Order: sequence, then structure tokens, then C-alpha cells
Amino acid sequence: MATALCPGSFDPVTLGHVDIIERSARHFDQVIVAVIRNPQKTQSLFTLEERQEMLAEALAHLDNIRIEFFKGLLVEFAKDHGAEAIIKGLRAVSDFDYELQMAQMNQRLSGIDTFFLSTSPQYSFLSSSLVREVARFGGDVSGMVPPKVAKRLKERFAEQSAGGDT
Ligand code: PNS
Repeated sequence: MATALCPGSFDPVTLGHVDIIERSARHFDQVIVAVIRNPQKTQSLFTLEERQEMLAEALAHLDNIRIEFFKGLLVEFAKDHGAEAIIKGLRAVSDFDYELQMAQMNQRLSGIDTFFLSTSPQYSFLSSSLVREVARFGGDVSGMVPPKVAKRLKERFAEQSAGGDT
């Protein structure tokens, strides 16, 4: 059974992620959406459980998907789960340098190959961080994230402004 990993922070999942995961699920028997537990980025907006719930809702129509958390090296998680491929979406040239470096490091560490899928053009400008920023200031993120994620973003920033966080 051919298993691939789609790793990321998913804080929150966007329609760009959903597109890459759906297309990956057509090519592999099983796709594990691997949510990093300890992102090196700034503080997360959503908890791991919230991110998992949003992913589960967005991917409910796919029957060969699992959502798991990982910490430490991605390639160790891949080996432990019998995954033979890592899949990454490439939006633009700006993604390429870092993604190539990670792919080569992961290959060197484990022999596991990374497959790059070109992001569908309608999502090439999208990132979780930009979505968070737009939503934080009340912008419209519909068409960029699943509807339930848009709702949660609205609620989260309403809570934060009520609590004096923003
Ligand atoms: O959604 P993101 O934040 O761009 O995802 C980045 C992620 C989680 C895929 C990447 O940071 C990662 O694989 N981290 C795990 C740590 C690791 O294996 N580092 C060595 C990679 S060369």
C-alpha cells in the first residue's frame, strides 16, 4: 500500500492545502496529513485539536486520509508510518529554494523522496499566515479557506479583541 505524507502546520487549513491533499489522495492509496506539534514559527492561532478538527471537516469527503500529529524529524515519522513519499505544494519560485533544501535533506537523512505538486493557480497567493492577517483585521477570507474555518477565524479574533489581545 503506497502511503504519502502531506506535512504542515495547518494553522489554519486553507483551500490551497485541501487542493493539494485531494490531488495527493488520487495518486496514493493512503495519505497521512501530518500536523507538526512544535512549529518553529510564532505562536499558533489554533490549538492542535482545533487544527485537527478543521482538517477533518475539510477532508471528510476523502476516504483514504488520516490526520496525525508529529514532532521531531518528519522523516522519522514517515519511517514509523511506512510512508514512502512526502508531498509538498509549490506556489511560486519563492517556495522553491527552501523546499528543495528540505527535500534534499530529507532524502539524505532517510532516502524518502519528496514529490512537488504545483499549486492550482487560483490558490497560488494563499498562505495560512496571510489568511490569519487578513482575518485578524476583519477582511473577507471566504473562498480562501473552508467555510467552517472562516467562521472559526471570525470567532477567534472576536474573542481576542474582547479579551484585549489585539
Ligand atoms: O506548513 P509549514 O509550517 O510550512 O510546514 C513546515 C513543515 C512542518 C513541513 C516542516 O517545518 C517540517 O517538516 N518540520 C519537521 C522538522 C524536520 O523534519 N526538519 C528537517 C527538515 S529538512
